[in-house]
Formats: sequence, C-alpha cells, structure tokens
Amino acid sequence: MADDSWVNKLYYGDNLDMMRKYISDESVDLIYLDPPFNSKATYNVLYQESNGTASAAQIEAFEDTWHWEGAVATYQEIVENSTKKLTDLMHALYQFLGHNDMMAYLTMMAIRLQELHRVLKPTGSVYLHCDPTASHYLKLVMDAIFSAKYFRNEIVWSYKRYTAKGNRYQREHDILFYYSKSDKSVFNEPREEYGPKSGKADSHYKQDEDGRWYRWQKRKGQEPYKIYLSEGRRIGDVWPIPHINASAKERLGYPTQKPEALLERIIQASSNEGGVVFDPFCGCGTTISVAEHLHRRWIGIDITHLAITLIKRRLEDHFPNDLQPYEVIGNPKDLPGAQTLADQDKFQFEWWALDLVGARPARDRKKGADKGIDGYIVFFEDERDPGSVRQVVVQVKGGSVNRSHVATLKGDMEREKAAIGVLVTLQPATRPMREEAAAAGFYDSPHYGRFPKLQILTIEELLGGQVLKMPPRRQVDKTFKKAEKKTKKREDQTGLF
Ligand SMILES: C[S@@+](CC[C@H](N)C(=O)[O-])C[C@H]1O[C@@H](n2cnc3c(N)ncnc32)[C@H](O)[C@@H]1O
Repeated sequence: MADDSWVNKLYYGDNLDMMRKYISDESVDLIYLDPPFNSKATYNVLYQESNGTASAAQIEAFEDTWHWEGAVATYQEIVENSTKKLTDLMHALYQFLGHNDMMAYLTMMAIRLQELHRVLKPTGSVYLHCDPTASHYLKLVMDAIFSAKYFRNEIVWSYKRYTAKGNRYQREHDILFYYSKSDKSVFNEPREEYGPKSGKADSHYKQDEDGRWYRWQKRKGQEPYKIYLSEGRRIGDVWPIPHINASAKERLGYPTQKPEALLERIIQASSNEGGVVFDPFCGCGTTISVAEHLHRRWIGIDITHLAITLIKRRLEDHFPNDLQPYEVIGNPKDLPGAQTLADQDKFQFEWWALDLVGARPARDRKKGADKGIDGYIVFFEDERDPGSVRQVVVQVKGGSVNRSHVATLKGDMEREKAAIGVLVTLQPATRPMREEAAAAGFYDSPHYGRFPKLQILTIEELLGGQVLKMPPRRQVDKTFKKAEKKTKKREDQTGLF
C-alpha cells in the first residue's frame, strides 16, 4: 500500500551513515547501485567540483575506501558482528588478498551490501553494477549476503565504444548482478516486440497500422485469417544499449553517467508503480530521474555536493510541472557542500555545524530561551565534584560575518557565565574579528591549563580536522553509559551455501 505521507528523499553524505540513520528495515522495493571503482580513467575527472577545483569529499570518500588503513575498523566490525557466512568469506578473502586496496574496497562494499539487504523488502530485488576488476569477488560477497539461492542473473550490458589500440580486446560490456531477497520478488518480465530481423517476424510477417506483427494463416476450406505475434520476444540477459556518447541528448557531463534506457528496463522489470526505488551511489541521478518518470517513489544518496546539485537541476529540468515533492537531507563533507546546506536550510546547517564541534543545539535544551546562543557544551572542571559544571557557548553563522558578531558573542558569554565562547563561521574570519577574539584573553582551568576564551573556527578549519580547545570532555561522557558491545547470532552453515 502506498504511504500517502511519503516524500522522496535525496540524502547527502556517506551512504553507510545515511542508511543506518534514516532508512528503516524492509522499506525498499528495488535497489540499483553503481559504486565507484578506482579506475584511473575516471578517478581524476570525478574529483572535480563544477568550478574545476578538487572535490575534497570525493577524494576523502575514495581514499577512505581505497586504502587498507581506512578499512581496518570496518573489516573488524564485519568479522565481529556479521553472519558466519560473511565472516568466513571476508576472512578467506583477507587470507588470499592480504591487506591491499582490493580488500579495502571489498570491505567497504560488504558493510554496505549488508545494510542494503536489511533495507530491502522481502519482495525486493537488487542490481549491482560492477567493475570487471572486482566483479568476481563481489559475486562471492553478494552470495554471502543475499544467498546464492537468490542469485537471478548476470546481466551483460553491451555497448560499442572505441578506445585507443591496445594489447587486449576492446571492452564492450559491463556486468550487473541481479539478486532477489526471496523467491517472491516482483518481476514484470520485459519483452521486446519482434522486429523484421528477429527471425520470427520474417518475410511472412507484416505490420498492421498499429505496428503489431501478423501473418496470414491459410487453411483448407477456410478464409485466410490473421495470426498476431502477441507477446513479443522474452528479453535475455544480454542487453545491447548504447553508451551515452559525447553528443547524446541525455548526457550531463558527469563522467560515470549511465543511460536512462538501462535503468528503465531494470525499474520496469523489478518494481511496480508507487514502489520505492533506491540508489545509494546515485551520481548525477539517472536512477532517480527514471524512477520519477515511471511513477515510482525514490531515495538517492551521494556523498558530494556536486552530485546533489546536479540531480536537483536535472529533476527540475526534466519535470518542470509535475515533479513530486522531495527533501534533501544530510551532512556536507566539503566547503561547497556546507554552503549548499546553508543556502538550503539554515537550521540543518546550524545543527550540522554544532555537531562538528560536538555541541548540542540550544533550542532542544531550553526551547527558545537561549537568546542568541545556538549550542552548548558542558564539562566538569573536576570529575569528583558535581558542582564544577562549566559551559562552552557556541554561535553558528552561515552568512557574512564581521567584528560586531564577535563582540556580541562576548556579551552573551558574560550573561551566560560561560567559560569559553566559540564562533563557528562558514565565511572566513577577518583580521579584526581574530583581534577582537584574542582580546578576550584566556580561560584558566585549574586542572587542564589555559584555553583561549573566545575562539573562532571556520567550517573549512573544522572540516580540515581543527578542533575546539577546551578541557577534556570525557568526564561528561561518563554521564552516558557506553552501549554494551553485542555479538550477533550467527547463522548455521548448512550445505554448500
Ligand atoms: C559511478 S558513480 C554513479 C553514477 C550514476 N549511476 C549515474 O548514472 O550518474 C558513483 C557515485 O558514488 C558516489 N559515492 C562514492 N562513495 C560514496 C559513499 N560512500 N556514499 C555515497 N555516495 C558515494 C560518488 O560521489 C559518485 O557520484
């Protein structure tokens, strides 16, 4: 049943975080994913923002997933918390591959595929678009998570393209693995009409005014009558669909853009109108756009501001009058992303910025009584003395800033009797602002030393790893009990799979 309150969603951030945070169990009908791979050809192009500068978010995303150092913790998480099948497989792959970039990639994929399995409905399907360098390993991972029993097809998307002469065959296909979550998955078997060259519709067949193929049947003693080829040819697992060439109308300039015809076939075959289609690596939004077009509901995630901006434009351009409402949600990973969020939603930006310094939103705490303070951090000067609570007050500015903002924060700090004040700003801080902040002097902590009383941190600095200078917060963290680490129940390994 379609949910009337549903709104399509475009999430901005790492798909693992977004899925865990926002997407509930068994809520999606169809998943298509086209994860990035470290092919040097696309690597450089993909890393650019629209103004030609390097995209910090993408570089970080790639580096995190590509190098073993970034994947160790995830590998441990899988080994400790996953099903026995996946644990055994990852362990075997590790023994075979060692800790190299391929292992890092498979680890990053395994944890996400596990999450995708969770969000897929029992009647759902998943199509994993693979790079040939990793597809053989990815199929093992898919078998471990979705079960070899529910492997449906290895689809060959075949296309023509011309590359430089080399010492091997020209690459003219991609592989997509199609799995279902159970044997009750939606499948609207696609058919294509017989054409004059299909063999069936040969010279005996003609087309009527509606384009349907027929031939004349003659029987002794009867008037000749027409026999129609009614259903068309069942589509096989090799799909000749042209690549998006340089002059294609649908081309947006996103280096890894996939053709709409490919997504149309997948969405029509494996979902119904009103079904939820999900693309966790949505790039310039081919899946989203086709889903919108085919009256499906949709969810897309991408880690870059560039992709999210492109999708928004693409949707507005494609559907100027009948675009279904949608929301953009999530965390920027770079400065242009932060700017987009600030333009889009002042409050989301503020909450995100507060989180960067580990502050809690004031609105939640005091329901509007906080006069100019956006967030707070509380700490204990002395762990053993419950009366030694001190606070840091935080102000966030998404627009232009000047010296007077620092002066105002100074006043707010005095009123709130705050130990430290922080101004978090999207725009760079000017020299007079830095001077005004420095003039506020220091907060002298009896146990932890001196800290600048008024600190200015730009979003760029925070994204670059700079942190707020203050006494340690671990005392406060003690007020929240650390959740117990649990080991999930492991599946029995029965039979071969
Ligand atoms: C190969 S492209 C997808 C192209 C897409 N199929 C299209 O037609 O435009 C992969 C996308 O995944 C995004 N990406 C990479 N790592 C990600 C992550 N951890 N979470 C979300 N998106 C990610 C990249 O920014 C890139 O846009």
